[in-house]
Amino acid sequence: MEESREIVVVLDEDERVIAASRRARESLDGLEDGAPVPAELLRPEGGREIFRIPYDLDGRRETLVYLRDAGDLAAYEELRAGFTAAVSHELRTPLARLLALLETALLPDTETRDLVEQAREEVGQIRELIDDVLFLSELESGREPVALGATAALPILREVADALAESAARAGVTVTVEGDADTELPLRPRMIRVVAENLAENAIRYAGAGATCALAVRREADAVVLVASDDGVGVGDKDLGRLFERFYRADRARASRGTGLGLAIVKHVVASAGGTVEATGERGSGLTVRCAFPAR
Ligand SMILES: Nc1ncnc2c1ncn2[C@@H]1O[C@H](COP(=O)(O)OP(=O)(O)O)[C@@H](O)[C@H]1O
Ligand SMILES: [Mg+2]
Repeated sequence: MEESREIVVVLDEDERVIAASRRARESLDGLEDGAPVPAELLRPEGGREIFRIPYDLDGRRETLVYLRDAGDLAAYEELRAGFTAAVSHELRTPLARLLALLETALLPDTETRDLVEQAREEVGQIRELIDDVLFLSELESGREPVALGATAALPILREVADALAESAARAGVTVTVEGDADTELPLRPRMIRVVAENLAENAIRYAGAGATCALAVRREADAVVLVASDDGVGVGDKDLGRLFERFYRADRARASRGTGLGLAIVKHVVASAGGTVEATGERGSGLTVRCAFPAR
């Protein structure tokens, strides 16, 4: 219920609120647990559609009320269609390169070892894209809860840094971890790992040799934050605001591999747990990505 992105309310026999999704509490003024639902809230106004689904639970009669704003579905459909097109487009590039490599390998008297190695990289790229897309759709379906309980983040940040140590060393980037051992984030362990991995991998990929990336978790006045901060090449001003968009990559000319979905996933995970993300920095002086959750 809580995690549903829809406006959903459960009512008892007397139309009193038993449960409501966060979105319902945000969009329906005057909704209160245990209190009767104000009648005007559940009227089909302004193109709003209302579905009532009554059911019996241990002899009690309850009703699931589901509201849909007219704009919701159209916007969603548009997003979906755009996303499908973008995924297909992103897949075409590595597939075209893969095909070219295979065709070259078929020519008589070619040295194939190198080509096979390159082909393997292309397959890796395709797999990364598919994994990211599947993970995003898992998140969106709500089948994979993001914010189940609270988790001490520091040990997970350490695990992530250890697991990436080798590729960090290859890139000449140092990944450090800091924070209090008992600071908890309102995320499942797996989700903390996803966020930290994406941020650290980005620093390893883009910050440049000699850079240091600090992963930190700390408690602030009214928030708990997870921050990844590096002193590498950073991104330009116009890119900064767009980094969290799906498929957005700041510097395509840099012949690096990536899906452009990493930060979109980070944002999705953090937002699903009630948090916010923010990127700051300047070209030439590093990038800081800050994920903040309301302190409880
Ligand atoms: N630490 C960083 N330093 C510089 N640029 C970065 C950093 N992190 C992310 N970026 C830029 O943001 C873009 C989007 O990142 P992301 O969503 O993780 O996609 P991907 O890593 O697959 O390209 C990257 O392509 C890169 O241009
Ligand atoms: Mg990335």
